[in-house]
Amino acid sequence: MPINKPDDKPVKPAKKAATPQLVRGMHDILPTDWPWWNFIFNKVEEVAMCYGYERIETPILEKTQLFTRAIGNTTDIVEKEMFSFVDQSGDHLSLRPEYTAGIARAYIEHGMLSLPQPVKMFSYGPHFRHERPQAGRYRQFWQFNFEVLGETEAVADSQLILAAAALFERLQLPVTFAINSVGCPDCRPKYRQVLIDYYRTKRSEMSDEAKKRLTRNPLRLLDSKEEALIEINKNAPQCVDHLCENCRNHFVKLLEHLDEVEFTYQLSPNLVRGIDYYTRTVFEVWGEDGAASAFGGGGRYDNLIEEIGGRATAAVGFACGIERIVAELKKKQVPVPPRQRPDIFIASLGEAARKKALKLFEDLRRQGVTVAESFTKSGLKSQLETANKIGASFALVIGQKELMDDTIIIRDMENGIQETVDIQKVSLEIAKRLEHKAARSVPA
Ligand code: HAM
Repeated sequence: MPINKPDDKPVKPAKKAATPQLVRGMHDILPTDWPWWNFIFNKVEEVAMCYGYERIETPILEKTQLFTRAIGNTTDIVEKEMFSFVDQSGDHLSLRPEYTAGIARAYIEHGMLSLPQPVKMFSYGPHFRHERPQAGRYRQFWQFNFEVLGETEAVADSQLILAAAALFERLQLPVTFAINSVGCPDCRPKYRQVLIDYYRTKRSEMSDEAKKRLTRNPLRLLDSKEEALIEINKNAPQCVDHLCENCRNHFVKLLEHLDEVEFTYQLSPNLVRGIDYYTRTVFEVWGEDGAASAFGGGGRYDNLIEEIGGRATAAVGFACGIERIVAELKKKQVPVPPRQRPDIFIASLGEAARKKALKLFEDLRRQGVTVAESFTKSGLKSQLETANKIGASFALVIGQKELMDDTIIIRDMENGIQETVDIQKVSLEIAKRLEHKAARSVPA
């Protein structure tokens, strides 16, 4: 602390450091947000269980090369969105922009090919893409992800889509599934050429950016948001008309399976997705009300595992953005279970009572009762206000008198009715009251 002598000019306090701020595109998940996040995680776990998926979590950091090989050098993700750096050992590393590549690596590295196939795994965690931040688009975002590895049959694609649909049903969010097939390395090059020939006839109507895309990744022109291209794309040749026989059969089977269970979907001939590893089936999940961006997407990636060094293994999967789903749940006011309310709040008056309260807190906690306290507050009023705020069912109050009598006050926080009981019997008395309360709150 600077001290001024009588004739000194006042010493200016050192400049205050700027308030710390979030890194652009990142966001905090605050305590008040968790009911929505937990609701989603619980539904993901339930659906994973129903459909036989087991949890896997891979590291957030992987070698950069894994993503460049898996996702593709001409994709936006690899070209401009990865957070990459060279670490102290000279390794080129990247924060994962998606789950699939890491899971494919884990499948190879842990010899999962020798397990009964398919191997079905699910995950949820944070991802990183250096995109332009806007509504529903962050630089750190969470995905939940489902993968089925080691299965070529279209029935796997259909069941994966049905699992995704079951999840959105449980989330109480109406969605539309857009489905397409992008073929395989046999038929796609021919389709690509047909597409290039078509766009060449439209060059005069295309922007410079679109012309650049035409030479690098012409398929991505199909889902462009540019107005001129939307018009041009209306008559563009469709991939489904240029599939080889195997891809066509696969697509037909997928649709037949979905029709069999009367699942409603939308065929979307211009759906191509922004990642290079897809073969055959691709799909996206869209909300109602003409949402600006998809909740999720996925598809088949039969060559990825071989491309990154494993044995040829067919696979299919999907991922959804959790922030976008949280925003929709809030917007639609879907009821989610509130934060867990403590059963009991312990209030105390005076130092000696506080000691006893501390002991009681530990005893009750060991018995499995959820207990809350605010031992640092001294006034009874402010302690009871806290009990009220956090929604405790009962408050236990120990004051000087109770301390002397070996008693405790049980206060029903709902109606304010208080009763003094023998402190030895407090557990029993609480259990009785909680049971009674639970019985009353069960809907008829
Ligand atoms: P993706 O379409 O790149 O696919 O991402 C899936 C979902 O993640 C998107 O639909 C979106 O909801 C969310 N998402 C992506 N980027 C952002 C962002 N910057 N901010 C907020 N949310 C975002 C994949 O990642 C594939 N790995 C899916 C997959 C799994 N394919 C096969 N298996």
